[in-house]
Amino acid sequence: MGRGLIGRVSVGCGGCPPSALATTSAILADGGVARLSPEVDDHTGRRGAMAQRIQGTEDLYGGYMRGWQHMQDTARELFGTYGFDMIETPAIEQVDTFVHGIGESTDVVRKEMFRVFSGALMERLIGAGGEGGLKAKQRMALRPEGTAGVVRAAVEDKLVSQGAAPVKLWYAEAMFRGERPQRGRLRQFHQVGIEWMGAPDPAADAECVIVLMEYFRRLGFDPARLRLRINSMGDATCRPAYREKVRDFIIAHAHELCADCRERADANPLRAFDCKVDHDREIMAHAPLVTDHLCDTCAAHYAQVKCYLDEAGVAYVEDPTLVRGLDYYTRTVFEVDALDSGVGAIGGGGRYDDLVELEGGRPTPGIGFAVGFERISLALAACGGSLETKPPVCIYVACAAPEQRDAVFSTSLALRRAGVRTEADYQGRSLKSQFKQADRLGARLCVVLGADEVASGTATLRDMQTHEQVRLPLAELVATVSQRIS
Ligand code: HAM
Repeated sequence: MGRGLIGRVSVGCGGCPPSALATTSAILADGGVARLSPEVDDHTGRRGAMAQRIQGTEDLYGGYMRGWQHMQDTARELFGTYGFDMIETPAIEQVDTFVHGIGESTDVVRKEMFRVFSGALMERLIGAGGEGGLKAKQRMALRPEGTAGVVRAAVEDKLVSQGAAPVKLWYAEAMFRGERPQRGRLRQFHQVGIEWMGAPDPAADAECVIVLMEYFRRLGFDPARLRLRINSMGDATCRPAYREKVRDFIIAHAHELCADCRERADANPLRAFDCKVDHDREIMAHAPLVTDHLCDTCAAHYAQVKCYLDEAGVAYVEDPTLVRGLDYYTRTVFEVDALDSGVGAIGGGGRYDDLVELEGGRPTPGIGFAVGFERISLALAACGGSLETKPPVCIYVACAAPEQRDAVFSTSLALRRAGVRTEADYQGRSLKSQFKQADRLGARLCVVLGADEVASGTATLRDMQTHEQVRLPLAELVATVSQRIS
């Protein structure tokens, strides 16, 4: 799904009126439209518009793709030892799944969620002048994050039935947010995350953080260059009163704060802590702090989480202004930055004890985190590291003349069946260009099959680095190659 349109489906932002949407264009959340280049290219003379990638999306291939696969492999191994199973939920969900979970007043839901309409539905909406008459199941959006969908699946598929063991799930998926594209901020990005439902104990919070930091270590981060911030957001008992205090503070300082923060006073006052305006941040630094307003149970929970982190030797900074951008959090929240990388948070998460109920399930506590592949790649690159792994060793089977084509076919087949990554020529190139091609592919060995070799049931094995060549019986080729590349 690297391209903007999914079949005959149009994608629009949360606030676009349907009449403003064209059925054949991807309308971006900031009002931009996917660009198409002129119909005839001056240089190639090619007819037809060449489709271009939508800004803020990336094609994943080569080493970059191997980096994404490495993140998944590392997650599978590490999260597996903690008892997490993989889940994949649909990329499109009912809008309500996100509205109930993430919160109606969050930026993610209000401004960034891509709405999805089929072409037929779009025509009807344009005719009707709005989406007022739509049923819940017709109101769809691309997932902006993974938690709401995984919790919806856990409830709908009864993965967290009463009294059952906790459910532990992990995912590696593309997410979609209509943000203004910039370094480390994309419209389609990739997250690896875990969701753990049914575990109220503070040990679960600590284990979540421990597994997150261990994941970063295994991906190649120096723990000393990571900053883990933690906080407690309280719960339904203590947060409403705290929210009121922050609201009162914003109203008292309204004349000094930006319009966004003033607007947040009623709908979502805690979001003002995340304001990007420097002056507002200075003012909010004097606002009441959540940690001074926790009820006894939340305070005890938070203290125990910190005890476990201390015991595990995980370094953290307490940040009572850390609020996170999603409304479902209760109690523990955490976020990780890679120092000096300039890409923002590379991962974050927290407890969401009310979310299962908000998604229609029985009260079940939950906790989890997600990390962003693109930001991790950038942050590792900033300190000279990389997620990229080398492709498996490659062998090239060269064909000296067309008469040896059949021998090349059967030899390649035998090597591949033995699990050896094998390349061959399919364009009838000269032996010299085949060697060049083998070099470009980084082949370690080249098998040469000429008339002599085929007639004598042998093969020539050429070392691509030393250029040494040996002749060996064809029957011994697979075993010899496998042994030399192992
Ligand atoms: P989040 O903090 O919104 O949390 O996203 C997690 C990570 O996804 C971020 O730390 C960042 O690395 C990456 N990310 C977010 N937005 C973008 C973007 N526009 N472009 C590139 N990368 C991005 C969540 O999504 C929660 N669901 C985490 C969670 C799981 N909480 C509990 N369970």
